[in-house]
Amino acid sequence: MQHFQTHLHNEAGTAALGAALARALAPGLTIYLEGDLGAGKTALTRAMLHAAGHAGHVKSPTYTLAEPYTVRLGGDPVEIIHFDLYRLGSPEEFLDAGFREHFNQSTICIVEWPEKAAGVLPAPDIKVLLSIKVAGRDIELQALTDQGSQCLDRLKFAPNL
Ligand SMILES: Nc1ncnc2c1ncn2[C@@H]1O[C@H](COP(=O)(O)OP(=O)(O)O)[C@@H](O)[C@H]1O
Ligand SMILES: [Mg+2]
Repeated sequence: MQHFQTHLHNEAGTAALGAALARALAPGLTIYLEGDLGAGKTALTRAMLHAAGHAGHVKSPTYTLAEPYTVRLGGDPVEIIHFDLYRLGSPEEFLDAGFREHFNQSTICIVEWPEKAAGVLPAPDIKVLLSIKVAGRDIELQALTDQGSQCLDRLKFAPNL
């Protein structure tokens, strides 16, 4: 599947999709989360991390820009790094922080505000687009690589209509 689109009626819908995505994750994926402030990028990430077994808090790394988590996927420990680049000053800051080395075949990177690091941020396997509607959110997932496509193939999500 290259493309998946649905409506999330409420926060529980966002949490359910996050949980479904967690079950479809594989090491090495890079996922961009795009959408306005309050669209649900952090909410979706939080649901993914909790469903992947992280028991503690998940808050957006607004000032540190990146927060690492170690979870277990299929029994093996995998590092997931949650980026929030909203306050990134410049693409150089991204490079100077050494963030590029996290984009490799073993780490999963989830990136809020990828547009802030345009030009230096590695390309995504999946782009997630969230948009705020009068009630709930519309969400679109696009696979841009084979790895991303395989992830969406594994995705099992039945929205609560
Ligand atoms: N499907 C949904 N429908 C309505 N509200 C939602 C939905 N999903 C999440 N929310 C709410 O929207 C807000 C999203 O905030 P947040 O995840 O911090 O957004 P972002 O990281 O995109 O700025 C939260 O208050 C959350 O409760
Ligand atoms: Mg956020």
